[in-house]
Amino acid sequence: MAIQLDIVETPDKVAQKAASIVANLIQAKPNAVLGLATGSTPVPTYKRLVQMHRKNGLSFAHITTFNLDEYVGLPESHEQSYRFFMHQNFFQHIDIPPEQTHIPNGLAPDPDQECEAFESKIQSAGGVDLWLLGIGHNGHIAFNEPGSSSDSRTRLISIAPETITANSRFFDHPSQVPRQALTVGVATILEAGKILLLATGKDKALAVSKAMNGPVSPNWPASALQHHPDCTFILDQEAASLMTFTHSTR
Ligand code: PGA
Repeated sequence: MAIQLDIVETPDKVAQKAASIVANLIQAKPNAVLGLATGSTPVPTYKRLVQMHRKNGLSFAHITTFNLDEYVGLPESHEQSYRFFMHQNFFQHIDIPPEQTHIPNGLAPDPDQECEAFESKIQSAGGVDLWLLGIGHNGHIAFNEPGSSSDSRTRLISIAPETITANSRFFDHPSQVPRQALTVGVATILEAGKILLLATGKDKALAVSKAMNGPVSPNWPASALQHHPDCTFILDQEAASLMTFTHSTR
């Protein structure tokens, strides 16, 4: 079992590849269950899927979606909540009924119960067919920060200081970035039938090379993907720029 690598020239080609894999899945299985991610990396992929919906009639009417995570304390109407992000970038432009979209509720009065219910909903939907992922500079997947074990499940976590710094670009001030989130676990992600991790830009090169070639360790949560039977990293050339280097120094 090894992570498959698909290196393309540009971020736009990453989006093209990812969108066509998702579209092929939907064509083969119109009621597929998709795992989705927020962050800047998948935005061009969502744009492509919206285009396919508008121009080619790709329908999401029978799809069910689950998102990786949500900030604690932000209402859905907050423009930095992940529910808002998904609505803006994807859901409002396609034909998916809102009740088929699932994102942990960051305002749930009992976060543990919310996390358990989220796992149950994934099970009831029959599991995730394909999960789209990004990766953090510190090797996180979803908000599984360093220290997250490969058997972790959906839970309340504290966001790592380096992630707060990275995400502060979306807020007026770093102090506004929520300190906690609800996130699916590494084990929750590993149960997906297929995983596509997207990364673009030089600043992700180290993160992806350690995920692919480094030791499998909770210190680098994305390294757990090495244990998945069908995981592909779709990278632009910049994000892939340390791959050869890492191979040659193993
Ligand atoms: P990004 O975030 O796509 O905005 O770089 C990815 C992540 O933190 O998982």
